[in-house]
Amino acid sequence: MGRAFVYVILGGGVAAGYAAHEFVKRGVSHGELCIISEEPVAPYERPALSKGYLLPEDPARLPAFHCCVGSNEERLTPKWYKENGIELVLGTRVKSADVRRKTLLTATGETITYKILIVATGARALKLEEFGVSGSDAESVCYLRDLADANRLVNVMQSSGGGNAVVIGGGYIGMECAASLVIGKINVTMVFPEAHCMARLFTPKIASFYEEFYRSKGVKFVKGTVLTSFDFDSNEKMTAVNLRDGTKLPADMVIVGIGIRPNTSLFEGQLTLEKGGIKVNGQMQSSNGSVYAVGDVATFPVKIFGETRRLEHVDSARKSARHAVAAIMEPEKTAEFDYLPFFYSRVFTLSWQFYGDSTGDVVHFGDFLGNSFGAYWVNKGHVVGSFLEGGTKEEYQAIAKITRLKPAIEDLSDLETQGLGFALTL
Ligand code: FDA
Ligand code: NAD
Repeated sequence: MGRAFVYVILGGGVAAGYAAHEFVKRGVSHGELCIISEEPVAPYERPALSKGYLLPEDPARLPAFHCCVGSNEERLTPKWYKENGIELVLGTRVKSADVRRKTLLTATGETITYKILIVATGARALKLEEFGVSGSDAESVCYLRDLADANRLVNVMQSSGGGNAVVIGGGYIGMECAASLVIGKINVTMVFPEAHCMARLFTPKIASFYEEFYRSKGVKFVKGTVLTSFDFDSNEKMTAVNLRDGTKLPADMVIVGIGIRPNTSLFEGQLTLEKGGIKVNGQMQSSNGSVYAVGDVATFPVKIFGETRRLEHVDSARKSARHAVAAIMEPEKTAEFDYLPFFYSRVFTLSWQFYGDSTGDVVHFGDFLGNSFGAYWVNKGHVVGSFLEGGTKEEYQAIAKITRLKPAIEDLSDLETQGLGFALTL
C-alpha cells in the first residue's frame, strides 16, 4: 500500500502550516502536497497552548487558532487544505524514513513516496526520567507540548482548583504555565536549579523584576534545587514532591517544563546533524538535496551572527518554513535565509520581546518598576541583542531594527543614559 507526492511535509505543527500556506501562495497544484502528522488536528499555533488555552474563562479552542492566525493571516482549517488539494494525513506517525529511496513508512503500514521532503518534526518535551527521577507518568504530572497534553493539563487544573501546584523548570513553559495556574486560582511554587528564572535569556536584573511580579501574584520560588521524587497516598493520589535540598512541598499537581529534544531520530545516520538538529544551508536544504528541514528541528546559518543555530521559537518556525518553500519552488529567486532571532512572551499583563543574541556586556535601561524597561547586549563593540518589556509596536520595531543594524557603541554608559531613545532615534 502506498501513495506518491511531489512534496511531503513530515510533521503537522507550526512550520507545516506556514509551509503549506506558502506552497499555495506560490501555486502548488492539487494533489502534489501531503502533510503527515502524528497529531489528530490540522496545524495550529502552538503558543496558544500555554496561554489562552489554559485560561479559566473564555479559553482559546480550535478551530480558532489554526495556522496562520498568529501572523494575522488567513486561518487554515481542514476545509482550506481540502479546497487547495492538500492531502492531510493526520493521527499518523511516521516510524521510519529512507532518504535514499525517498520513502516514509507510517505506523499504519503505508509507504509514502516524495520527490522533495520537508522535515518539520519539531521537538519533544524532556521527561524527568531522563534526569533519573521516576513517577512522572502519574495522572497529575503534566508536560506540555501538544494539544493532547494541553487537554490533560486543563483537566488536571480543573480537578486541582484551590489546591497546590508545583512547577518544575524556570523556562518558558514554567513561567507561562505558572501564570495560567495562578489565574486559575491554584497555589503555585516554582522549582528550578538556577539562581533565577529564564536563565537562558534573562539577566539577574530582568529576572528579578518578573520574579517580584510573580510573587505579587502569590507565586513562591524555590531555586537552586531539583525535584527528586513524588509522594502518593494509598489511593495513588499525589500529596507532595520532594526536592534535592530536603524540602517537601505539598502538591496536588505538577507541571514539568525542563526543555526539549528535537525530533531527529528518523534521520540519524542519514542526514548530517549539528547542535542537536538537522544541519541545513541558507536554503534550509539538508545534506541530502531532496530533504529540507525547518522549525525547531533545523540547525541553520544565522547570517547576522556568522554561525549556525537551532532556535526553538515560533517566528523562526514560520519564517524558516516559508523560506524553504520559496527555495524549493523558486530556487533561482531565493537568496540565503537572513533571519534575525526573535523571542517573546506574554504573561499576566506583561509582554516582552527580544531580538538578536544575548551575549557580551549588558546595558539595562528604564525604571524596572513595571512600566517600560529593557536592555541591550553589546558584544565586540556592537549592539547584538535588545530586550524590551511593555513596549509599543513602534518601540518593538525600533529595537528590532537597531539589532539588525548592529551599530558600534563606544561608551556603554552613554548607551545606558540614552536607553530606549537610542533605538528610537537611530
Ligand atoms: P511543532 O512542534 O510545532 O510541530 C511538530 C509536529 O511534528 C507535531 O505535530 C508532531 O506531532 C509532528 N511529528 C513529530 N514527529 C513525527 C513523526 N514521526 N510522524 C508524524 N508526525 C510527527 N514560541 C514562541 O516564540 N513564542 C511563544 O509564545 C511560544 N509558546 C509556546 C508554547 C508551548 C506550549 C510550546 C510547546 C511551544 C511554544 N513556543 C513558542 C515554541 C513554538 O511553538 C515552536 O518553536 C514551534 O511550534 C516549532 O514549530 P515546528 O513546526 O518546528 O514544530
Ligand atoms: P526551557 O529551555 O525554556 O527551560 C528549561 C528549564 O528547565 C530551565 O530554565 C531550567 O530551569 C529547567 N531545568 C533544566 N533541568 C532541570 C532539572 N533537572 N530539574 C528541574 N528543572 C530543570 O524549556 P521549556 O520551558 O521546557 O520550554 C520548552 C520549549 O517550548 C522550548 O523550546 C521553548 O522555547 C518553547 N516555548 C517557548 C515559549 C515562548 O517563546 N514564549 C513559550 C512556551 C514554550
